[in-house]
Amino acid sequence: MSGGPECPENARLATGSRSAALRQGLRTRDSAYFENLYTANPDPWNFTESSYEQDKYAATLGMLGGRSFSRGLEVGCSIGVLTKLLATRCSELLAVDIVEQALSQARERCALQANVTFERMHVPEHWPAGCFDLMVFSEILYFLDKTDIARTANLANASLAKDGILLLVNYTETIDEPCTGNEAADLFLQIFAPENVSITHLRNSSFRIDVLERRSHSD
Ligand SMILES: C[S@@+](CC[C@H](N)C(=O)[O-])C[C@H]1O[C@@H](n2cnc3c(N)ncnc32)[C@H](O)[C@@H]1O
Repeated sequence: MSGGPECPENARLATGSRSAALRQGLRTRDSAYFENLYTANPDPWNFTESSYEQDKYAATLGMLGGRSFSRGLEVGCSIGVLTKLLATRCSELLAVDIVEQALSQARERCALQANVTFERMHVPEHWPAGCFDLMVFSEILYFLDKTDIARTANLANASLAKDGILLLVNYTETIDEPCTGNEAADLFLQIFAPENVSITHLRNSSFRIDVLERRSHSD
């Protein structure tokens, strides 16, 4: 895609009861794990109806203020409920997920939004080319182990445009995944290059949103 945002020149490169020690043994969830979830239920997290999800989406969009973006990336788009909302803020939006069943629902849901492209991608093994001035990781990082979170943070750092915004949205209650939401967000924030980045947080009883905003050097 041409005419998109410019990359920074100096970019560096659920559960419950399981204890942190046991969870440390869990590796990044593979595609079969999610394919089984979507086979059992086409909307496994009840994105279309749950009040938790509606509140989370409203808070996520609220963190964007009135801003619009030229090229957005949504990682782990699932069935496209958040995608449809993000698409209204982006000239172009690339939404990726590891599961084809989810992507086909997402394509249908966003069929009238010609600015959205969907791709099957297993992050961080696969990563899109180019730069983005909006990147959204909503409820995805804690499915990765710490090594893959660090890889993802470095890839995202290299792909976030000079004045770009990156959102991390994470459930913070108990889960049975490789990381908790707090561990995943804190590690990502630690790895992502802090130079010229301002960070804003929103926390409530069930989720947190971290907004990383890359400032140009003149700011
Ligand atoms: C809990 S859903 C989040 C959906 C959406 N982001 C939201 O907040 O409404 C997590 C999604 O991430 C996808 N996913 C998990 N691991 C992934 C990976 N390594 N690469 C790409 N997608 C992944 C899953 O298939 C699932 O659809």
